[in-house]
Amino acid sequence: MQYLKAVLDGIYSDAINAKDKGIVASYIPELAHVDKNNFGIHLRTLDGFEYGVGNFNTLFSIQSISKVLALSKAMALIGESVWERVDVEPSGHPFNQLALLEIENGIPRNPLINSGAIVIADILLTHLKNPKEDFLQFVRDLANDASINFNLEVAESERNTGFKNYAAANLLKSFNNLVNPVDAVLDFYFHQCSIEMTCSQLSKTFFFLANKGACLKNVAHLKESQAKRINAIMLTCGFYDEAGEFAFEVGLPGKSGVGGGIVALLPDQYTIVTWSPGLNKKGNSLLGMQALEQFTTKTKLSIF
Ligand code: DON
Repeated sequence: MQYLKAVLDGIYSDAINAKDKGIVASYIPELAHVDKNNFGIHLRTLDGFEYGVGNFNTLFSIQSISKVLALSKAMALIGESVWERVDVEPSGHPFNQLALLEIENGIPRNPLINSGAIVIADILLTHLKNPKEDFLQFVRDLANDASINFNLEVAESERNTGFKNYAAANLLKSFNNLVNPVDAVLDFYFHQCSIEMTCSQLSKTFFFLANKGACLKNVAHLKESQAKRINAIMLTCGFYDEAGEFAFEVGLPGKSGVGGGIVALLPDQYTIVTWSPGLNKKGNSLLGMQALEQFTTKTKLSIF
């Protein structure tokens, strides 16, 4: 374990000394205030070891990382019927691209691009009694942490500027792949994306996907086969048009968010979370991807 600590310490010192730290997302105005010099990394193994370096206890906006949690809840609620409304293929396009959705008759390529996540939000809106509260409770249960919350300023900021998401939702509606009203679905989706967590809280939250569906308290939230499917989707679709690059460099199922977070995991072994708010051209954390490449290359702890 001293070895793992040394690897993480080395990654941290490389990251804080990096010259190019990427560009902080500004299309959601509330996210633009975040200092790109933040860098946190946190590792949690299934056998109980954990170690964090840097800003691993600072809250940040999880954004698209929430799409994996929403998909998990949808699968727990309606199982395989999710796949009647969204496909499981990588899109090879940016997270907010709409052209494929039009060509493919309103069936999003996968649940991790925005249009797919909006369909999942619609499913949750239909099947949860108090959608926002119940979803937040699901996340709190996964993390065993009642302090996790939405950031209402971030949700409002995205509501005011999320024109492409409105376009996506309207397109879905025109193809009859949205049951609830556009505004209600997007209100849920913007709140889901606004959830804030630290690296340490996220490594706990995603523990269930490394542990065959059972969270840290050993409560089964998903069947083993469902956890397997979600990990496969993260591997093939978690980084949009950079999913191939992430698999190539890092070799783990993972998910990024425009808040600069990345969650990745090795089934049966560990979860790892990085936070570095500066993004690369594809909207994924620049230093986070580099850090995870270093981690799996140095430790040889990847699926390949
Ligand atoms: O819908 C959006 O554009 C944001 N709420 C989430 C996008 C995101 O995090 C893309 N990930 N890298």
